[in-house]
Amino acid sequence: MKLIKLLANLGYGSRKEVQRLIRSGAVTDDSGTVLKESDFPAYERIRFRGEELDPLHPLTLVLHKPDGYTCSADDPGSTIYDLLPERFAHRNPGLNPIGRLDKDTTGLLLMTDDGKLLHKIIHPKSHCLKVYHAVLDRPLEGHEEALFSSGTLMLNGETKPLLPAGFEKVSETEALVTLHEGRYHQVRRMFAAAGNHVVDLKRISIGGFKLPEDLDEGDWRVMSPDDLAAVFG
Ligand code: URA
Repeated sequence: MKLIKLLANLGYGSRKEVQRLIRSGAVTDDSGTVLKESDFPAYERIRFRGEELDPLHPLTLVLHKPDGYTCSADDPGSTIYDLLPERFAHRNPGLNPIGRLDKDTTGLLLMTDDGKLLHKIIHPKSHCLKVYHAVLDRPLEGHEEALFSSGTLMLNGETKPLLPAGFEKVSETEALVTLHEGRYHQVRRMFAAAGNHVVDLKRISIGGFKLPEDLDEGDWRVMSPDDLAAVFG
C-alpha cells in the first residue's frame, strides 16, 4: 500500500488532502525526517504531525455510551462518532457499532471495522448474551420472569415471539435482563408488555466482556486480544 492510500484509509483526509498534507511536511518518520509520497517506512515508524498513527484495520473499540447519542452516523444530532477522533468516521473500512443502543440507552458499545467479527458477535449461534440493567417507573409485580422466559412473548407489531430472555430482580424497581437477540427497543418494549416503563437502561455486558469500571461515560479504548477473547469466553 502507498503512503497516501494508508493515510486516507485511516481517515486523515481524502487522497487529495493527504497528498497536500504530505507535501506540507505533516508526515515524518520517527526520526523527524519529512516523508515524500513515494516513501513507505514501516507503519510503526510513521508519524502524523509528530504523533503515532491510529491502529490499522482490524480495529475494535469499547465505548461507554452516554445518554443522548445515537448510533447512526448520519443522524443530525449528537452521534457516537462525535465521541471519537473526527477521522475515525472517515476510516475505510468503516467503524460500525456491534449491536446498536437507543439514543437514551447508556453503557457498553463495541465498534469494529471487522465485518466478520461483527457478524460473529451478533449471531445468536455465538451465544454472546447481552445483559441490561433496567430502572423501572413502578415496582416489579413478580410475573416478569415467567413472561420474559416463556418464549411466547409477542411484542406489539411483531409476528415472531421473543426468544426466552433471562430476568433477575435487583430491587423493587431494578432488574437485569439477558437477551439472546436484539430487536428494536427490545428491553423497553418487554417491560411495556409487562405493564411497566423503563426510565433508565444501561448495557453492562456482551458475552463474557463487562463494561470496564475504569471507563467513564463518553470514553473509549481499543479492545485488546484478551478483551476480544472475553467476549466469546
Ligand atoms: N433494548 C432497548 O430497549 N434499547 C436498547 O438500546 C437496547 C436494548
